[in-house]
Amino acid sequence: MSNLIIPKHIAIIMDGNGRWAKRRGLPRNAGHRAGIKAIEKTIEGALGLGVKYLTFFAFSTENWKRSKDEINGIFGLIRDYLKENPDYFEKKNICVKHIGEISPFPDDLKDELAKSEKRTSKNDKLVLTLALNYGGRDEIVRAVNKIINSGKVEIKYKDIEKNLDTNFLPEPDIVIRTSGEERLSNFMMLQMAYSELYFPKLYWPDFDGKQLLKAIKIYNKRERRFGGITQ
Ligand code: IPE
Ligand code: IPE
Ligand code: MG
Repeated sequence: MSNLIIPKHIAIIMDGNGRWAKRRGLPRNAGHRAGIKAIEKTIEGALGLGVKYLTFFAFSTENWKRSKDEINGIFGLIRDYLKENPDYFEKKNICVKHIGEISPFPDDLKDELAKSEKRTSKNDKLVLTLALNYGGRDEIVRAVNKIINSGKVEIKYKDIEKNLDTNFLPEPDIVIRTSGEERLSNFMMLQMAYSELYFPKLYWPDFDGKQLLKAIKIYNKRERRFGGITQ
């Protein structure tokens, strides 16, 4: 285990909360509540393993299609999670960030997020990024509009990169999607051009540090070539 290569950036599409709850005869929001516990366990695992960047897809630009009740439930859970953990972030040296366009979110959630980001901005053991009202296409459109507004007439890929929400993140080394679905659902498509993809067959609330280690072991068996050839 000691000579495992630890991916620098692990990005996670947390899927299957609803099915986890349904299987237990519980409301969908009970699944989201259990999903928060899985986030906590995964962060602990990541800290122990020395992962530098951990990104969670928490709410997509398409998730507005869900019921008001479910959406408000998710917002409340994220708000409470941030509200309850400032000491933990401090103690563990975690820097909280977000990607996505959060202006349509309720003020209480935006306030907690701003507070967490401000309080933890100097922390540097783990960058914990929450993707909130995030969509890869929306991110690209916003980036391109920023470039147009800056007056540029010809651009390089670097210009796009610099204007993406993810400009403070390295590209993900591995993207994990739970629940058995094998799709990207508009998550960081540009950034994962060369990421390893892993689709464990379990619902998000059942994920934890042990599962993270399993993912890292699988990552270690992959051969990344980036278009080149193996020596
Ligand atoms: C993922 O779980 C959480 C969010 C999208 C916020 P789902 O709620 O999509 O769970 P399933 O896919 O319905 O089981
Ligand atoms: C992706 O899951 C979004 C998040 C994990 C936040 P979804 O459950 O929304 O994706 P689809 O609808 O199954 O593609
Ligand atoms: Mg889903």
